[in-house]
Amino acid sequence: MNETILITYTSYSGTTAEIAEAISKTLTATGAHVELLPMQDVKSLSPYSAVVIGSPIRASKWSPDAIKFIQNHRSELLQKRVATFTVCITLAMSNGERYRQAVAGWIAPVRALVRPVSEGLFAGRLDFSKLPFNWDTVKLRAVVALGIFPREDRRDWKAVQAWTESIHPLLAQ
Ligand SMILES: Cc1cc2nc3c(=O)[nH]c(=O)nc-3n(C[C@H](O)[C@H](O)[C@H](O)COP(=O)(O)O)c2cc1C
Repeated sequence: MNETILITYTSYSGTTAEIAEAISKTLTATGAHVELLPMQDVKSLSPYSAVVIGSPIRASKWSPDAIKFIQNHRSELLQKRVATFTVCITLAMSNGERYRQAVAGWIAPVRALVRPVSEGLFAGRLDFSKLPFNWDTVKLRAVVALGIFPREDRRDWKAVQAWTESIHPLLAQ
């Protein structure tokens, strides 16, 4: 039986990709055999025993590409162990923990398609150097200027590591 875990993600500006990389490193360190691929490079799920799927949040939703990935592979995903992780700026706010339940609610459309063994919810980052200048990002810059969203990188790498260590036994079952 092949026990390779696929970690796949979509990322507009790289912060989810970096969290996926950290998940990959921790799973590898805990003895798992792992492959890390952006969603567009995944041809088939048959080589994998379990799949970790990550998406950033935009407008309180998972990326449409990530939803499409799950829809396209749904029947196979329902036969495998699946964990999801979600990256958003809300959890990077100084009072972000207060919104954890609301953020968990944004993943309901994913939960309706697959049955994750675990859902990681992580603070992301607004990296304006990697984002286009448009009306959406101007509004986000304003929220940063008001001190509501942080300017700096507040990703919690310890939380990512702890979650990853917690899912390894669940994915290996
Ligand atoms: C246009 C846009 C809309 C966003 N909408 C939300 C949102 O509704 N809620 C939230 O918590 N974060 C939101 N974010 C923040 C992103 O989820 C966060 O920056 C994340 O780290 C981006 O990941 P990526 O670099 O992998 O694309 C938004 C970011 C952008 C650029």
